[in-house]
Amino acid sequence: MEVKQGSSAANGPGALVLGIETSCDETAAAVVRDGKEILANVISSQVDLHRVYGGVVPEIASRKHIELIMPVIDLALKKAGVSAGELDAIAVTYGPGLVGALLVGLSAAKAMALALGCPLVGVNHIEGHIYANVLEYPEVEPPLVCLTVSGGHTDLLYIDEYGRYDILGRTRDDAAGEAFDKIARMLGLDYPGGPEIARAAVDGDPQAVEFPRGLLQADTYDFSFSGLKTAAINYIHNLRQRGEELPVADIAASLQEAIVDVLAAKTLAAAQDYGVKTVFLSGGVAANEALRARLRELAGIHGIKVYYPSKVLCTDNAAMIACAGYYRWLRGERSPWDLNAVPSLRLGDG
Ligand code: KG4
Ligand code: ZN
Repeated sequence: MEVKQGSSAANGPGALVLGIETSCDETAAAVVRDGKEILANVISSQVDLHRVYGGVVPEIASRKHIELIMPVIDLALKKAGVSAGELDAIAVTYGPGLVGALLVGLSAAKAMALALGCPLVGVNHIEGHIYANVLEYPEVEPPLVCLTVSGGHTDLLYIDEYGRYDILGRTRDDAAGEAFDKIARMLGLDYPGGPEIARAAVDGDPQAVEFPRGLLQADTYDFSFSGLKTAAINYIHNLRQRGEELPVADIAASLQEAIVDVLAAKTLAAAQDYGVKTVFLSGGVAANEALRARLRELAGIHGIKVYYPSKVLCTDNAAMIACAGYYRWLRGERSPWDLNAVPSLRLGDG
């Protein structure tokens, strides 16, 4: 396979990949060298715009992406000290996500790639989250078990070779991040709810409320968080109806504990069943300190090492897309010009 060497970007040789990510409410572009050196990682968050609605409004997201996409790409190239002509490939998220939002990044990527005569590489957003770990720990080799937990996904995977994903389990209803977000909203906390719950939980008692641990005892790697959501909503309603003050910190801590219990136990069980010594944690919820600590503690007892990205690379960003795209590009993968946005793209679909 011919590997085109990158060029003379300010700091020396190497393959330069521009990553573009617009699947939800962050407009992001990054330049990464050789899949491991971040030259620029620009993330323009729309969180403030969506906060008043308590969640992402797809139409607003698409419009904002249109406004921001080219300035964000320009800024990433400028910060990296790279001119567009020096790029070796353009990697872009084409799913899963909001269709209008995805189309903005995809159209920008195609236009640039076509104009520059540069390869276009479509990347699965979930694969991007997994590669946030590869970006930071390029020396780590499979086999490994990976838990990817975000606002839209909760997937437990066995990876025996990068690029090949064996899906052991996924959520049957709500994603873990979604549970954090929805219950935070009920508690009157800001969007996104995960970091808010984590903050509130610091002063709370994790044993204060006994919330259900969906499928914890069941013989499956699947997850279920809808029972937890319903239990939390009922608990909050009852207190409100009785005119009692909400013990926000206790509810937050108990909720976090219930989610962490299930995520950590199933991940560890998978690692043991598959006999791996490496666990990856990725996605927005991987920023959760309690989850990180619990997994480290459980895995440590069994000599299993846990890796998670630094916080800025846990939540949506384009550096992870550039990294995943780099490895696809190295394998000789190129996307066609008619690559479309696939809102419900699954891992392994392409
Ligand atoms: O990966 P991400 O940025 O977007 C999706 O692909 O969905 O994940 C966002 C999710 C949100 O649900 C957010 O509440 C959650 O990640 N999150 C957290 C934390 N930081 C972000 N959940 C728990 N604890 C955190 N510290
Ligand atoms: Zn994401």
